[in-house]
Amino acid sequence: MRKLSRADEAIAAFQQRLGIVSGLGPPARREYPSTITEVPSDPRERRHSTGLMRVNHVGEICAQALYDGQAATARSQRVRAVMRHAATEELDHLDWTRRRIAELGGETSRLGGLFYATSFAAGATAGALGDRINLGFLAATEEEVSAHLDRHLASLPESDRASASVVKQMRNDEARHAQTARHAGGLEFSGLTRRLMRAGSRIMTTLTYRF
Ligand SMILES: [Fe+2]
Ligand SMILES: [Fe+2]
Repeated sequence: MRKLSRADEAIAAFQQRLGIVSGLGPPARREYPSTITEVPSDPRERRHSTGLMRVNHVGEICAQALYDGQAATARSQRVRAVMRHAATEELDHLDWTRRRIAELGGETSRLGGLFYATSFAAGATAGALGDRINLGFLAATEEEVSAHLDRHLASLPESDRASASVVKQMRNDEARHAQTARHAGGLEFSGLTRRLMRAGSRIMTTLTYRF
């Protein structure tokens, strides 16, 4: 087979990103975390589950964008490799959340492109500030996402065990990603940065629950 040139690779990566933003993306490498696919019979509960999973799907688009931005401006090869590896694992989450939204009979958000762009900019800024800040930003993001997924676990209807299984597996993965970034030398962020991050994610979650 012909070896891919750098331009071919860049085009392939761009096509994958376009797919991700438009609600597609590569299939998960790991098995779907739920063996059941039942959806809540109450329409209100089903709508609520769909909204939460739509938020989580956009969250995973944001994760891809952050990693892309962070890898683009990372100073060292080592940190770039950490970012690329984490992004690959997150592709499973992207596929699982998209699949669960389809099982629930819902649609992915129309705002994926907007949040991809804003997250890419945030990631690239963190990367440009140096590797320790870059890794600290990754750790802080993963910690915030874990806490967010815990809240979703508490909020999902009891009748939706399948979504809960998906979210639980994601939560465990995110907690592991946070630890990896801390061990790699990530800086601990102050309260103000955390508050800004939370404000940004609140805008995303409020909008994408509906649209
Ligand atoms: Fe994730
Ligand atoms: Fe993660």
